[in-house]
Amino acid sequence: MQFWTVDTIKSHALADHAQGEEISPGVVVERRTILRLGLSIAGLAAFGGFGLSGCASGSRRDEMGESGQLHPAATADEFVAAIMPQARALIAAPAPDEEAYLAAVTALLARVEAPPVWQAFPAGQGWTMDNIAYYPPIVLMQIKMAPRSVIHLHDHRHYNGVLLATAGAARCRNFDIVQPDGKRLNIAQGDVPAKGEDFLIRQNADTVLRPRQLSTLTRDRDNIHHVEAGDEGATLVDFFTHFSPKARSYELAWDGKPYDQAKGLFKVAWKDA
Ligand SMILES: [Fe+2]
Repeated sequence: MQFWTVDTIKSHALADHAQGEEISPGVVVERRTILRLGLSIAGLAAFGGFGLSGCASGSRRDEMGESGQLHPAATADEFVAAIMPQARALIAAPAPDEEAYLAAVTALLARVEAPPVWQAFPAGQGWTMDNIAYYPPIVLMQIKMAPRSVIHLHDHRHYNGVLLATAGAARCRNFDIVQPDGKRLNIAQGDVPAKGEDFLIRQNADTVLRPRQLSTLTRDRDNIHHVEAGDEGATLVDFFTHFSPKARSYELAWDGKPYDQAKGLFKVAWKDA
């Protein structure tokens, strides 16, 4: 298993909870539907007095400040409820401002208490992920990476995201698709080079994420990444906003060697798109 579709996320979210269970105040799992009554009230209570606009940092890959510690911690569900109106407005906007949205998300995410670790490091050399919260269009996951494990090169088609380290360390490299000669792809709309074609990506960032440090990506900025855990492994929180039910990741094949070192270019092809 590598990357989840929306259907996979949905089934995992429901599998985690029994019918009739109240997963947060006013949020009850009923059959195959999660009722969200009361979710916004919970969110407003947790973040009351701290408007979203005042929280926006505007920074792209900053270490989180200490300001989050001055405010009460919020649960993951409260965080989701607080950001939900902006998430819905974002995906409905004719020209979504993903950077402003992600700035608001990262400021609020700083105040979310670290979710409990649901298991020890994955067996062997791998990594695992699990749902923390799934309220479309928002997905919050936790990723556990064994020491030196790798999440292979992949994109985030039809969604943006924030990757936050909560324990250990992970090297995160981000890339953009280089527009092919003579074409202008609308990458944010999922218009990407075809399967079977070689194409180039440019590395924009190469950062080691440690606890409270994060990396953001939009649908057409830094959308492809490669994540490698350090010697002590890594625990990460992944926050996604889906623009479409088609949102999912696709893995890329590459040899990891620069095609043009000076320009930071690598030759790749889709594995399964
Ligand atoms: Fe990813």
